[in-house]
Amino acid sequence: MTGKNTYDVIVVGAGPGGYVCAIRCAQLGFKTALVEKNPRLGGTCLNVGCIPSKALLHSTEIFHEIKSHSGAHGIVCKDLKHDLPALMKRKDGVVDQLGKGVRSLVTKKGVTCLEGHAKILGNGQLEIDSGSSKEIFSAKEIIIATGSKPVELPFMPFDGKVVVHSDHGIAFDKVPKKMVVVGAGAIGLELGCVWSRLGAEVEIVEFLPEICPQLDPEVSRSARKIFEKQGLSFRLSTKVSSAKIVRGKATLVVEDDQGTHEIQADKVLVAVGRGPNSENLGLADTGILQDERGRIKVDHSFQTILPGIRAIGDVIHGPMLAHKAEEDGVACAEKIAGQSGHVNYDLVPGVIYVDPEIANVGLSEKQAKEKNIKVRTGSFPMAANGRALATGATDGLVKVVADLETDKLLGIQIIARGASELIASAVAHMEYGGSAEDLARTIHAHPTLSESLKEAALSSDGRGLHSL
Ligand code: NAI
Repeated sequence: MTGKNTYDVIVVGAGPGGYVCAIRCAQLGFKTALVEKNPRLGGTCLNVGCIPSKALLHSTEIFHEIKSHSGAHGIVCKDLKHDLPALMKRKDGVVDQLGKGVRSLVTKKGVTCLEGHAKILGNGQLEIDSGSSKEIFSAKEIIIATGSKPVELPFMPFDGKVVVHSDHGIAFDKVPKKMVVVGAGAIGLELGCVWSRLGAEVEIVEFLPEICPQLDPEVSRSARKIFEKQGLSFRLSTKVSSAKIVRGKATLVVEDDQGTHEIQADKVLVAVGRGPNSENLGLADTGILQDERGRIKVDHSFQTILPGIRAIGDVIHGPMLAHKAEEDGVACAEKIAGQSGHVNYDLVPGVIYVDPEIANVGLSEKQAKEKNIKVRTGSFPMAANGRALATGATDGLVKVVADLETDKLLGIQIIARGASELIASAVAHMEYGGSAEDLARTIHAHPTLSESLKEAALSSDGRGLHSL
């Protein structure tokens, strides 16, 4: 396509879904533009999500490890303390460096970056409002990749000071004395651990009877016990029903089967899920359909009801995860090019980056049984792994779920230090249709934590070598 404001593809939103999609479009020979309203590319993941939270988790993990275990390693550490501004500065530096890296990468791949807020006009047209001017652009294909935002509780609006969401929770200027976290999902656990390690008293209120419902009950129970040992406290099967904020302090009213209770806190981190960023895009005027949660409805080619307008990532169905959005982006670009882009939604791994990390892929035993699939399972405790013992990483376990008849691996759950890396080989086995026997016969280096995957697979057939 020719003309200054005319492109083959315009991608709206430069998070991991959008910028990866734009790169793939450019690789496929399309004249591609990427629109972003924030000066720094990278979306939630890079600016206020995955990356800054992992920087904080790492710094606080070092602090916690030294504080709790240095003595056992024969390391004497007197007057240990943290420096919160320095810790935050490091996190901001990481975000800044990666932000510059993404812009340079996208540009070098031949994508044009446009700054401003985009609104879909229909007929292949888009208005970009830069703040000082509005311009019309056109493209054969427009891809909406506008991501998601934290969900607010109706009776407790975010004020950014006492009632906060994850964007605020990565940037407090002092350690709260008492923090209540509402929701024991990925965000609640990760930020709960960060502030608990820095000295806050952290209480997590969860509506469901157990944390991490994606895992089998005995696995999530064991995760909770580990975090309780680290100092977090949990109120399960508990609903927050109202909140009062007076002079910078919150009083929450919570309900459980014992009745109604009050909890005081100086910060309340609400982490009850995220919702799609599908407002202010002009969708209603174009007739693009959304579901009851506001997510844009698309078909298997990421195509909305309006030809030439597609959507990917958090703003459509599926888990709100950066790697899922990236896969959507690649597949969407390939579909536009007439190729057979595909995402295997059954094998999107999930990771919670606490210590030990929690990772899972595929079906849990409970989910398999709900689908009437007969399974065999095997598990292996990290405490029986030599490397775990040598490095003080004995908390956790691996559980393998396989089809009883075919032995095909259906799911793997890992609680272990480094589970985020260990899960990759589980996904690879499953992507290629591997069986528990395949995993059991795969040679794993000794001594490594990864041997526990092999051992869990062996134990699913009663052949565990290092467990009873
Ligand atoms: P989540 O959906 O993972 O967990 C929310 C939790 O809050 C659930 O356990 C739910 O039962 C509970 N809940 C909901 N309403 C409640 C209420 N009124 N009172 C008490 N508990 C309540 O949501 P989260 O942690 O906010 O994360 C949002 C999204 O971001 C998720 O899709 C998550 O996967 C993604 N994310 C992923 C990360 C990772 O992969 N490490 C890190 C951060 C976010």
